[in-house]
Amino acid sequence: MKAVIRGFGGYLPEKTLTNFDLEKMVETSDAWIRERTGIQVRHIASDNEYTSTLAIKAAQEALKNANMTGKDIDMVILATTTPDDTTPATAVQVQAAIQMDRGYAFDVQAACSGFMYALSIANQYILSGSVKNALVIGAETLSRIVDWSDRNTCVLFGDGAGAVVLSAATTEEEKAGTGVLDIVLHSDGNCRQLLTTTGGVSRTQTAGHVLMEGREVFRHAVTNLAEVATEVITRTGIKLSDIDFLVPHQANVRIVESTAKKLEIPMDKVILTLPEQGNTSAASIPLALFEGVKSGRLKKGQLILLDAMGGGFTWAAALIRL
Ligand code: UT7
Repeated sequence: MKAVIRGFGGYLPEKTLTNFDLEKMVETSDAWIRERTGIQVRHIASDNEYTSTLAIKAAQEALKNANMTGKDIDMVILATTTPDDTTPATAVQVQAAIQMDRGYAFDVQAACSGFMYALSIANQYILSGSVKNALVIGAETLSRIVDWSDRNTCVLFGDGAGAVVLSAATTEEEKAGTGVLDIVLHSDGNCRQLLTTTGGVSRTQTAGHVLMEGREVFRHAVTNLAEVATEVITRTGIKLSDIDFLVPHQANVRIVESTAKKLEIPMDKVILTLPEQGNTSAASIPLALFEGVKSGRLKKGQLILLDAMGGGFTWAAALIRL
């Protein structure tokens, strides 16, 4: 039994914030941001858009591309660090909006690796036979918890949502080797202070603001991303040269380049959305998948490697035959 991706979706708010806009807000420059991160512009949710607004649009797009409706879906898992409300889960807002009148929906919090954790859970439910079709979403309004006076973080993040429909494979797909081959997850709570927020519901009764020791996070990221990718490749017995595309979490172009170099994957086989989207945390991988499919670079039959790292620390990699 395998789980296959049947549909991809994504949504970015209309409003954008360029590096030049940021120059007017904090002491920074377009040149610094481009050179140190690769980001040129990011999308920002408008006042009446919430994480659920973005998630619902991405989910509807994924359903449309899978030729399904909410009635076909058994489970919604939504990865986010920025839920609409403390409770209930943002996933149930999506459940109601897509008119899914059965099954269940819940949120997952694993920072920038959240989509990978959600995908892994959905994959296990499908492998166990208890779910046939799952909607897996990464959605964020990071702009709501960014300190817009902190140049160390405010230039990095953007808002957006990406979604996939993950389904039990047909016999033909099984035979063709299509689907999720393996997913590896890791976390290390000893590093929790390196990428955190200044508060939270229980501790300060606020959402807090993003706080990051950039240089340290960078150092861990370049090590962990290559290691976990190598782990999943070794576990599946796949040859590096068989990988068609790397779809990494989009945190910093220098991190992506370093990971690709270590894995001997040329940059023309990497989906990069950083310049136009910034770091959308849990939404970055499904948005990159959506972008890759939309642009025609990601195609059926290809072998793709997903790779993510974020607060916790959490990090993860997956190999999928599209
Ligand atoms: O998605 C979750 C995972 N997150 C990440 O993976 C992010 C990992 N970290 C990074 O991407 C990078 O560390 C940053 C982009 C955040 C920072 O780049 P860096 O090359 O590590 O810069 P730095 O922190 O070492 O700072 C270099 C200099 C400092 O000035 P001094 O101390 O050398 O005088 C900073 O104060 O750049 C300064 N700086 C800035 N200058 C202009 C920091 N932020 C800015 C800024 N504009 N926005």
